[in-house]
Amino acid sequence: MRKYIETLDWLKQNTATWLVTGIAGFIGSNLLETLLKHNQKVIGLDNFATGHQHNLDKVRSLVSEEQWNNFSFIEGDIRNLEDCKQACNNVQYVLHQAALGSVPRSVEDPITTNGTNTDGFLNMLVAARDAKVKRFVYAASSSTYGDHPDLPKEEDKIGNPLSPYAVTKYVNELYAKVFARTYEFKTIGLRYFNIFGYRQDPEGAYAAVIPKWVSAMLHNETVYINGDGETSRDFCFIDNTVQANILSALVENPEATDQVYNVALNDQTSLNSLFNSIRDELKARISDIEIPDPVYRDFRAGDVRHSRADISKAQLLLGYDPEYKIEQGLKLSMDWYIDDLLSRKN
Ligand SMILES: NC(=O)c1ccc[n+]([C@@H]2O[C@H](COP(=O)([O-])OP(=O)(O)OC[C@H]3O[C@@H](n4cnc5c(N)ncnc54)[C@H](O)[C@@H]3O)[C@@H](O)[C@H]2O)c1
Repeated sequence: MRKYIETLDWLKQNTATWLVTGIAGFIGSNLLETLLKHNQKVIGLDNFATGHQHNLDKVRSLVSEEQWNNFSFIEGDIRNLEDCKQACNNVQYVLHQAALGSVPRSVEDPITTNGTNTDGFLNMLVAARDAKVKRFVYAASSSTYGDHPDLPKEEDKIGNPLSPYAVTKYVNELYAKVFARTYEFKTIGLRYFNIFGYRQDPEGAYAAVIPKWVSAMLHNETVYINGDGETSRDFCFIDNTVQANILSALVENPEATDQVYNVALNDQTSLNSLFNSIRDELKARISDIEIPDPVYRDFRAGDVRHSRADISKAQLLLGYDPEYKIEQGLKLSMDWYIDDLLSRKN
């Protein structure tokens, strides 16, 4: 954490202009909150495909008036090059988060996923290169490991992609490499594993597992587990993810750029164990809540069986030092999940 604390201290005294794409989404709005709290100027780009105005409103309530005045929002689409160019104007650091997440969404509609995640990404690269931004950091994905069997996952050992979503995220990495080679435009890709925490959307068919299960348990609905429940993931709390982004944007070591990094914990939690942890956290807060056992169903197409990240590269080159384990992250965010879900029903 020392490097991150130093970096945040430095940020408070040195204001720069950041572009966060996908700012109305889960990760984007958390980046916005941290940047504004550290006196940065932030431009946000989003088309509200999966993001929400209420995420921006929430951030507004968490920062001072003066900090909020450092934020400007562009409602626009990364599939439109002009929107990307406008957003990159006079920007020093880009944190590119906008994409259509979800493996199942991409299996059902590969064309729309590809349009945003591949065409939109290329637009952002071109716009950021032309604007001569200092650093372009982008959301890559652990799905790039595909069917490679090794655990923990090391950045340079990848297999075949298992979904259209995984293809798009891998293509992002390929474009990023080619931009370094062809235009000397060096980027950093962050292969997020399963990120969770405040402002993660619990609604819709493509909700992530933690908010989806908290919602189901709170509303006395069945929790479905795809497969036998021994599928495992490296769940990573949002604050660790924000840390990785800020360190990547500001790292000075030239060897640290034109690279991809795992962003996770090097930890492995099975879905069965996750179910028990969420149930325990809810029971600790709502004593009379009844939570039935989960119902098991078929494995889901495109899903990777096990996932755990080697994070030594990010530790070494970025100074990444994830502070929060899954248990702490669940404890910290559970009240938020509950408040958010109950306020939606009222
Ligand atoms: N959450 C995770 O566990 C996870 C894991 C791996 C990778 N990622 C990647 O991290 C990034 C952020 O994910 P998230 O979980 O915050 O998802 P999210 O859906 O909450 O946020 C994505 C944001 O991008 C916006 N967006 C989508 N299409 C757009 C377009 N064409 N133009 C402008 N904005 C657009 C959405 O409206 C939304 O606000 C994505 O690139 C995602 O693929 C997330």
